[in-house]
Amino acid sequence: MPTALITGITGQDGLYLAELLLGKGYDVYGLIRGQNNPKRALVEKEVPGVKLLTGDITDLSSVMRALNVSQPDEVYNLGAISFVAYSWENAHLTTQVTGNAVLNMLEAIRLYAGTDIGKVRFYQASSSEMFGKVQDVPQRESTLLWPRSPYGVAKVYGHYMTINYRESYGMHASSGILFNHESPRRGPEFVTRKVTQAVARISLGLQDQISLGNLDAKRDWGFAGDYVDAMWRMTQAPEGDDYVVATGETHSIRELLDLSFARVGIEDWDKHVYIDPQFFRPAEVDLLIGDPAKAKEKLGWEPTVTFPELVNMMVDSDVAQQSAQAGA
Ligand code: NAP
Ligand code: GDD
Repeated sequence: MPTALITGITGQDGLYLAELLLGKGYDVYGLIRGQNNPKRALVEKEVPGVKLLTGDITDLSSVMRALNVSQPDEVYNLGAISFVAYSWENAHLTTQVTGNAVLNMLEAIRLYAGTDIGKVRFYQASSSEMFGKVQDVPQRESTLLWPRSPYGVAKVYGHYMTINYRESYGMHASSGILFNHESPRRGPEFVTRKVTQAVARISLGLQDQISLGNLDAKRDWGFAGDYVDAMWRMTQAPEGDDYVVATGETHSIRELLDLSFARVGIEDWDKHVYIDPQFFRPAEVDLLIGDPAKAKEKLGWEPTVTFPELVNMMVDSDVAQQSAQAGA
């Protein structure tokens, strides 16, 4: 069976991708950073079949070691500083981890593969954040990139470096331009999970208010489980390529609030939401909506979870989690 190496194994997508690949019979390795990563236990509990290797994508020799130990057929580079707001406060670090480390991954694979460049297939986690100040509606693979955050700029670097390794060395390297995707495993710093966790707590009488920033921003939100399937389909395709992965629908934070509060029977959410200027960004990405036509046609990929279904899934999961914690 094939072997895969996943960076970012402790993150939302790492867990879903590991589950998918283990289910397909893959031998799965995950790169985990730090000498005592607090999320190790989570990975061991949720995807016990994964073999963990320590390493950091900014450390070329640790990536080389992981390749030599795992001998992968496929490498999925999901590791990144992924929180856009944080990237302004830690711009240089974000550049190193989210941008420069992509070159480390590509170069390590090139050195590892030697004359047999086709022996490893590479997936890079690119992002709709690269579209930033959008130049087309909807956004496609050909849309001009105009990033609006240090995170977005770093992702553009990784995106073009991936294309460059494909064109320079014939590497099977794909870049998935993924629009926002969420799940009950989403980090609580991102707006969907921040809202669903708070709504659950408000419905249980554990808190009264949630502080948010710009409620008018619009995102094309899908389910993470569907999006990792698109990653896998890219590595199975005859050639590496770039693909937009999106639902083709966009919704505002206000709509997210409408649906989340409605799920717990609260129609009038105004009194629970407080606008706090600290959550506004130096430059906002106002509107994201992707056109996934190429992924549908070439990869046979389709999203299976609608926006209301996604919100309900997340609210229900948070209500269950918060009730259990409150009862404990
Ligand atoms: P996430 O939950 O924030 O996970 C990020 C992962 O990167 C974590 O496992 C983190 O490990 C790891 N990481 C951070 N710095 C690292 C380093 N120096 N070396 C090795 N690993 C490191 O993100 P996600 O939502 O799963 O997203 C996965 C990837 O897709 C990211 O590259 C993200 O930028 C990209 N993306 C996400 C979305 C989305 O909507 N979710 C959309 C487009 C693109 P620790 O636990 O040790 O911090
Ligand atoms: N996080 C957060 N917290 N966002 C808020 C808040 C808040 O309190 N209030 C309003 N927002 C708005 C942000 O200004 C942004 O317009 C939108 O909610 C979504 O923010 P996030 O959920 O943090 O996601 P993101 O779109 O910035 O980035 C995510 O998607 C990208 C793909 O487009 C991340 O997963 C990135 O890693 C990913 O590349």
